[in-house]
Amino acid sequence: MENQNTQQNEQHHRSIKSFVLRQGHMTAAQQRAIDENWEKVGVNFQAAHIDLNALFKRNNPKILEIGFGMGVATAQIAQTLPEKDFLAIDVHGPGVGNLCKLIAEQNINNIKVMRHDAVEVVEQMLPENSLDGIHIFFPDPWHKKRHNKRRLIQIPFIEKLLPKLKSKGYIHLATDWEEYATQMLDVLNHFEALQNTAQDYAPTPAYRPETKFEARGKRLGHGVWDLIFTKK
Ligand SMILES: C[S@@+](CC[C@H](N)C(=O)[O-])C[C@H]1O[C@@H](n2cnc3c(N)ncnc32)[C@H](O)[C@@H]1O
Repeated sequence: MENQNTQQNEQHHRSIKSFVLRQGHMTAAQQRAIDENWEKVGVNFQAAHIDLNALFKRNNPKILEIGFGMGVATAQIAQTLPEKDFLAIDVHGPGVGNLCKLIAEQNINNIKVMRHDAVEVVEQMLPENSLDGIHIFFPDPWHKKRHNKRRLIQIPFIEKLLPKLKSKGYIHLATDWEEYATQMLDVLNHFEALQNTAQDYAPTPAYRPETKFEARGKRLGHGVWDLIFTKK
């Protein structure tokens, strides 16, 4: 009986997603970018481990980005850090199309794109100790109290994510929602294996570009919090 309850709880927990799939409008150019480039830059979900070095055809550091939105920052960061390889994941179709478009236009060859729930990718596709870094920038804050359970940054998810990170690897989070920043700090501080690189919030590193949205928020007096922790 207890076992059954645990199973049901687990299933219930898994059905709570950190996103809502909207039928966002895909422009013709975004759709074309997917059609023309998916074979080269796209990675399809599989319920089995993937060899990231084989995927990128080189043994360079591997960074996972969860929730790239329109992919503008992703493309910039990949150009700033050409010696690193980026596995960028989002569920949002127009954003996936836009990132494929940016990759093709700017001839970027260190990004691979996935359109899938990153939680499932982490659970099923990523081998242990395969990542050198993890970027999660401005994850949906789910402001309303009753929606807080949808937030990505919670102990159970970080528990799944951490084994995928190599020792000395880093996790970099950013948010513009103060109460979520506090939650992020609490969640990361919970893990003995993680060490904060700052006292609490970290200065924004040079590689993370300021988005238009972020610049506007700052002008309006809103804050932005970066958190960077390394794995012992
Ligand atoms: C608020 S947006 C931020 C986008 C981008 N990082 C930026 O700074 O502009 C959050 C993004 O995370 C994506 N997302 C949320 N949960 C996800 C999940 N489980 N797997 C993949 N993407 C997810 C959403 O589709 C959305 O594009």
